Amino acid sequence: MMEKQWWKESVVYQVYPRSFNDSNGDGIGDIKGITEKLDYLKELGIDVIWLSPVYKSPNDDNGYDISDYKDIMDEFGTMADWEELLAEVHNRDMKLIMDLVVNHSSDEHAWFAESRKSKDNPYRDYYIWRPGKDGREPNNWESTFSGSAWQYDEATDEYFLHIFSKKQPDLNWENETLRHEVYDMMNWWLDKGIDGFRMDVINFISKEEGLPDAPNPEGKKYAGGGQFYINGPKIHDYLQEMHQEVMAKHDILTVGEMPGASVEDAKLYTDPNRKELNMVFTFEHMDLDSGPGGKWNFKPLRLRDLKENITKWQTGLHGIGWNSLYLNNHDQPRMVSRFGDDTRYRVESAKMLGTFLHMLQGTPYVYQGEEIGMTNIRFDSIDDYRDIEILNMYKEKVVEGNEPHDKVMESIHVKGRDNARTPMQWDATENAGFTTGTPWIQVNPNYTEINAEQAVQDENSIYHYYRQLIQLRKKNPTIVYGDYTLLDEENEKVYSYLRTYHDQKLLVVTNFSAEELNYEVPAEITEGELLIGNYIDVEGKLEKTIALRPYESRVYIG
Ligand code: NOJ
Repeated sequence: MMEKQWWKESVVYQVYPRSFNDSNGDGIGDIKGITEKLDYLKELGIDVIWLSPVYKSPNDDNGYDISDYKDIMDEFGTMADWEELLAEVHNRDMKLIMDLVVNHSSDEHAWFAESRKSKDNPYRDYYIWRPGKDGREPNNWESTFSGSAWQYDEATDEYFLHIFSKKQPDLNWENETLRHEVYDMMNWWLDKGIDGFRMDVINFISKEEGLPDAPNPEGKKYAGGGQFYINGPKIHDYLQEMHQEVMAKHDILTVGEMPGASVEDAKLYTDPNRKELNMVFTFEHMDLDSGPGGKWNFKPLRLRDLKENITKWQTGLHGIGWNSLYLNNHDQPRMVSRFGDDTRYRVESAKMLGTFLHMLQGTPYVYQGEEIGMTNIRFDSIDDYRDIEILNMYKEKVVEGNEPHDKVMESIHVKGRDNARTPMQWDATENAGFTTGTPWIQVNPNYTEINAEQAVQDENSIYHYYRQLIQLRKKNPTIVYGDYTLLDEENEKVYSYLRTYHDQKLLVVTNFSAEELNYEVPAEITEGELLIGNYIDVEGKLEKTIALRPYESRVYIG
């Protein structure tokens, strides 16, 4: 029998502080700004806040490059502000989890400043240094943010590894002292009273012995390398050690961000008997609309691929580990623009997607602005973008390569991370009420219509619908613990599934298209009452045929 846990029954809300709420008019969101909005989050009904990094950082990658793990970024405020935030979160009976970014630090971290000084510096081995090979980099691995994953450093005539930007050198987890520095730091935050960690690319921390070249049949300058550092040889040892040193002493939520983790990997990471993590963020469903060329090479999503993938995770982890549920975050496009219709059926499709996700087994994550149906942004000029991944890719493809500006801009409009990073839209006043100054990235001009103030006032808004979804989960153990069966697998337009717990059944029917369709209810459920639906005028009883309107979703309980 599945063990009950508070983190299985919780809904998490992700705050990306830079874009959430600016309290001092410098154009950058900050910690006091978050504290000001806690009542809004409490009203929504969420249980846990995940705070993207607020630590000291030169902001090469918006805080995912940390120069001091135990201090707060100046633009975001002070440690006293953060302590006030934590206290106010707890006063409202919510919890706070922090982002743990320990695959890499900033190159401005004191450890790295020491490490680069000399080959015999005590901190040298905290990072991954290698001499060059045949006049070039130690291997052919490519950085996630374009170019080589190695940076030459003159002081010692060696290269250091950086899977992300060159200002994010990878930490060397082979080094036991470094590992214990990390565990001590985690315990230090836990002693301050936090409730868990979201762990950034945590399945990248163990690198293959010898750091071998990646196969490169196309003869490219740099060629991936992920197979040598994703789910690497010692990853489970490290996580078990971390568990023993940190997690075993606290009742906390842990979620590992894990690109390239399969459901088989996730069973190992999340089986409680193995003492590693509570849950992982899979990327598989985020990659279904990517072509062979990766994320920028997008293609339309086939609903059947989504069904196949979600079903694999739902059934694969059932009774073994635990799923996290998300359709967007600060690295992904806005879900309503990507999987719904962000113009004509914006409200309907956002509610439908919320229904689809919140009725699954797992812990749902809401990304800021999702609850009001915020949409992607289209800036015409590359100069309006801020994300290092976008800017490096544009430089490589357009400035240094031959690809046409328009084609690359289109891929940025569809897949770029800044889609999720435009400021939270609070009201219809200038800059969406996010700041009284000049925002660090432009506000989406649709804020005059799409904003939290409007959503809170309108009882039929996405926001109020999300409140209901969240309340239903709290009242209904079938939503949390029930098992999952996919229905009507072949249907290309409607995703439907059944949840069963003891003798209760839940039928979830979601129309992923703008068409009107007749849905024949499968024999698995014959009677039911409507639990929630995204159109207001629906009859209560389950009928044999459901006439679905564009992006309509219904949940019946029987
Ligand atoms: C994943 C984070 O979510 C992303 O924003 C960041 O750029 C990379 N990891 C590197 O830390």
